[in-house]
Amino acid sequence: MSPLHPLLPLSILVILSIDIVATASSSSSRFRPGSAVVDNPKLPPPPLSSSKRFEGSSDLVHLRYHMGPVLSSSPIKIYLIWYGKWALSQKILIKDFLSSISADPGTTPSPSVAEWWRTASLYTDQTGANVSRSVVIAGEYSDLRYSLGTHLTRLSIQQVIASAVKSAPLPVDHRNGIYLVLTSGEVIVQDFCRAVCGFHYFTFPSMVGYTLPYAWVGNSGKQCPEVCAYPFAIPGYMGGGGTAALSPPNGDVEVDGMISVIGHELAELSSNPLVNAWYAGEDPTAPTEIGDLCEGLYGSGGGGGYIGAVMKDKEGRSYNLNGKNGRRFLVQWLWSPVLKACAGPNALD
Ligand SMILES: *[C@@H]1O[C@H](CO)[C@@H](O)[C@H](O)[C@H]1NC(C)=O
Repeated sequence: MSPLHPLLPLSILVILSIDIVATASSSSSRFRPGSAVVDNPKLPPPPLSSSKRFEGSSDLVHLRYHMGPVLSSSPIKIYLIWYGKWALSQKILIKDFLSSISADPGTTPSPSVAEWWRTASLYTDQTGANVSRSVVIAGEYSDLRYSLGTHLTRLSIQQVIASAVKSAPLPVDHRNGIYLVLTSGEVIVQDFCRAVCGFHYFTFPSMVGYTLPYAWVGNSGKQCPEVCAYPFAIPGYMGGGGTAALSPPNGDVEVDGMISVIGHELAELSSNPLVNAWYAGEDPTAPTEIGDLCEGLYGSGGGGGYIGAVMKDKEGRSYNLNGKNGRRFLVQWLWSPVLKACAGPNALD
């Protein structure tokens, strides 16, 4: 959930090693011909997650089930709320990612967004029902006039949802609905950049009239791309170290950066929608969830400043997943309850 936690002082990493560049071998059947170079660049760790990252397999991670529901009703229906002004191209990019989650395998080459979501669908509730593999965009609402202003708190995000369901453009969908609030670049949100890039929770009946799972993710482009659009922007203190930010797969630092945060929040929302299902740690007010455990990790061999082996297209843009409409995305891995490790479909082994 990327909950509140104190920022650790950012340690200055001295990079002594040169970047390791591996090339996909022809025996690596997961990569299609022509899909090119695989590299594992060394970057500073993502600023907000250093306290929570667990690389590779670990018996120390006690991710436990706390008896609550998961999002098992099919399809999971996403109601999108665009808060503030969004470019059409940016909306289309985000919607292409969301509709790639349950894209037909025939339409999307491996490693795909749908294969990435399979890790989320390994989580079950006490009845044995899995997180649904099917995710659709069921409705959209644009709050172009910033109806609650350009400074939002955690609670006023619930009011944004309340106004979207009360003025009735969006239904109250108890059975399958999740509400995804996306704030545009000029909107300041409590704790944004300082402690979180996104979060998920559920609405309160006193605020919204109902208990509905929701997530918020902000566009960090004008505020803190080096924090929330990592690794397409990296902290300034690394600037002189010869490390360059990665080139975003769709040429949009802000929104390509949001996509991984959206993936993180959706996976956690699905496996822990009422914050009483899957999380690690003893403190339910600061749970460590299936996205938190793998933040900053996008491929095999990640950790210690390496993001893991990801692909590069011929323009040098980095990605690890294929999506619908020929799109490519770079999305962090998720914790697998089966492997007890971070997992993604672009794994090299
Ligand atoms: C449901 O989850 C279980 C346990 O992780 C897994 O073995 C099974 O393959 C999953 N089923 C589906 C349809 O994803």
